[in-house]
Amino acid sequence: MSTEHHHSDNEQQISRRQFLSRMSIVLGSIGAAAAGIPVIGFIFEPLLRKPPEVWRTVGLLSDFAVGQTVKVVFEDASPLPWSGVTAKTAAWLRRESDDKFTAYAINCTHLGCPVNWLPKATLFMCPCHGGVFYKDGSVAAGPPPKPLQTYPVRISADKVQIQPSPIPIT
Ligand code: FES
Repeated sequence: MSTEHHHSDNEQQISRRQFLSRMSIVLGSIGAAAAGIPVIGFIFEPLLRKPPEVWRTVGLLSDFAVGQTVKVVFEDASPLPWSGVTAKTAAWLRRESDDKFTAYAINCTHLGCPVNWLPKATLFMCPCHGGVFYKDGSVAAGPPPKPLQTYPVRISADKVQIQPSPIPIT
C-alpha cells in the first residue's frame, strides 16, 4: 500500500516536472511569438491597412457647366508625413450631365507630367513627350501605356466631391 503510494507520488512529481518543463517551452514560444507580433505588425501594418475613404469637395454643383472640363485642385488622399502637411493634386473634372461627373487624374500615365485639356480639340495633351489622350481619357498617341486614371466623383447635397487615390506609377 505504502509503496504504491510512493510510486504514485513519484509519478506525480515526474509528471509535474514534465508539465512544468512543457509549460516553460509553451510559455517561451508564446513569449517569442508575442514579442514578434508587434514587429511584424509594425512592418506590415502600413501595407495591410486600407486607406481611409476620403472625399474632397472641389466646388459647388452650380460652379460647373454641363459639357465643360475644368481643372480642380484638391488635397491628396493621405499626405505622407515626409511630404509636408498637405499635398495637393489636381484633376480635370467634366460635368457630363446634370448629375454625372468624370474626374481624370492630371498626371500622364507615361511619366506623370500634368496633362493639359484642349477644349477645341477635345484632347488631353502631355507637354513632356507628346502623349495625347482622347476626351474619355483613352490613349490617342504617344508613349502613354494606359488611359488617364479616373477618380470617383459624387454629388453630396450641393457639393461636388472627388475621392482621391494614389496614382500607380508605371
Ligand atoms: S510623361 Fe506624358 S508623354 Fe511622357
